[in-house]
Amino acid sequence: MSTIIAIDGPAGSGKSTLARALAERLSFDVLDTGAMYRALTVECLRRGVDVTSDEAVSDVAHAIHVTTLPDVRVDGRLVDDQLRTPEVNIAVSIVAALPAARAAMVRAQREQAAASTRGLVAEGRDLTTVVFPDATIKIFLTASLDERARRRGEESRDSVARRDHLDSTRSASPLRQANDARLLDTTGRSVAELVEEVVGWLENITSN
Ligand code: DC
Repeated sequence: MSTIIAIDGPAGSGKSTLARALAERLSFDVLDTGAMYRALTVECLRRGVDVTSDEAVSDVAHAIHVTTLPDVRVDGRLVDDQLRTPEVNIAVSIVAALPAARAAMVRAQREQAAASTRGLVAEGRDLTTVVFPDATIKIFLTASLDERARRRGEESRDSVARRDHLDSTRSASPLRQANDARLLDTTGRSVAELVEEVVGWLENITSN
């Protein structure tokens, strides 16, 4: 297995930014699993599927092929500009709480990791606990709610807080810090500084 850096954390904690910067620094691939759940949600809404039905949503998850690089597509159709609408922000937490739909997404994520030969930075909510429990490095990112809401721009503080609550209290793979994940608070810290910290950890691990 090639090197996997798995990152979890709440909305706006800096996962996507850090993952992209690390991938660039290390010449690794990047896997944004939140974008995958959002793309599945967009497709369910487009098809008029009941997003509270695990059976209906997992049928869609099995039927479609979601790619995230260089842009987010469902069966080749570009969905990038539909991922962050208020409607999707609400529905994605409902979709992400469905166990069978999650199982289909986890399988797709592991397939993408297996196809990566360069090393992978994967980020989301259950990468360190469920998808890649044996990742080379596991990181749990945090930041204050004010800073996270600020980073989310158009999404309100209440919407971010509501999503965090749903993501961390659901029964299927809730957001939580894995016992062996390193806690990294990104409040007030630059991306460059965080990248060097993680690269230092990786160098320590690989030199031992
Ligand atoms: O990171 P994001 O805000 O784009 O994620 C969108 C939603 O998807 C988020 O509310 C929780 C869910 N999600 C998840 O349950 N598991 C993941 N691995 C990634 C995202």
